[in-house]
Amino acid sequence: MRWVVFNQKGGVGKSTIVCNLAAIAAQRGAKTLVVDLDPQANASHYLLGAEAASASPNAADFFEQTLGFKLFKDGPREYLHPTRFDGLWVLPASTELEGLQSKLEQRYKMYKLRDALNDLKGFDSVWMDTPPALNFFTLSALIAAERCLIPFDCDDFSRRALYGLLDSVREVQADHNAKLRVAGVVVNQFQARARLPRRVVEELKQEGLPVLEPYLSSSVKVRESHEASKPLVHLMPSHKLTGEYLGLFDSLDGSRK
Ligand SMILES: Nc1ncnc2c1ncn2[C@@H]1O[C@H](COP(=O)(O)OP(=O)(O)OP(=O)(O)O)[C@@H](O)[C@H]1O
Ligand SMILES: [Mg+2]
Repeated sequence: MRWVVFNQKGGVGKSTIVCNLAAIAAQRGAKTLVVDLDPQANASHYLLGAEAASASPNAADFFEQTLGFKLFKDGPREYLHPTRFDGLWVLPASTELEGLQSKLEQRYKMYKLRDALNDLKGFDSVWMDTPPALNFFTLSALIAAERCLIPFDCDDFSRRALYGLLDSVREVQADHNAKLRVAGVVVNQFQARARLPRRVVEELKQEGLPVLEPYLSSSVKVRESHEASKPLVHLMPSHKLTGEYLGLFDSLDGSRK
């Protein structure tokens, strides 16, 4: 199954969610790939550590070759890097993605990622991290994906933005990718004791939005996990938040494929 984690808002947990769910998929025995499409390269750093900065070839090289006229193009596998976690691979991002964007857009290259993933055999589970914008790279990921997860940070402004986000997904579905489904809204940094987040999440459910459970708690361990470049299942297998991630993973339809 191919997953995209999408929310135009910055800092809602996209990269953390991609890496932790992908690490769980790999630990459960699925050959797993993380595709990092954000020039900030946070997911690449999380999974590769310091090596991420020099990872080559990377996603920018992949997109750049789609602009050329090479007769024999490299297959998608050439751009993948193994992590130190069994069964987990990364197509790393690079800051150079930013500079390529307008050229790729002008030349309608937004189907290239989907085509490359279609050609990539042997991976059971693919997780795409997107930048905090609905730009060329986010659109490429939405076109390549089968399931979309929307992280939600329990903020009232974000709640209103969710409807626009769902409309964007529907538009991509109608125009480019009939296979795309919204798997659900992932409630992140949930503070069970605070009244406002509880109320906001309840309202979402009442309005019929597909809110997934369990909710992910807020924990300082996330930062530690980033610093150690080790997803939570590896760093702290028995932590409460790890348990929530495992529960969320198991709740996802098709998470094993
Ligand atoms: N469950 C959590 N508990 C505490 N902090 C969290 C949690 N999830 C994410 N964070 C923190 O929130 C910040 C943003 O997380 P992350 O980078 O995953 O979000 P993002 O949506 O990918 O951001 P961007 O839009 O910039 O790519 C990070 O500092 C991260 O440590
Ligand atoms: Mg991110």
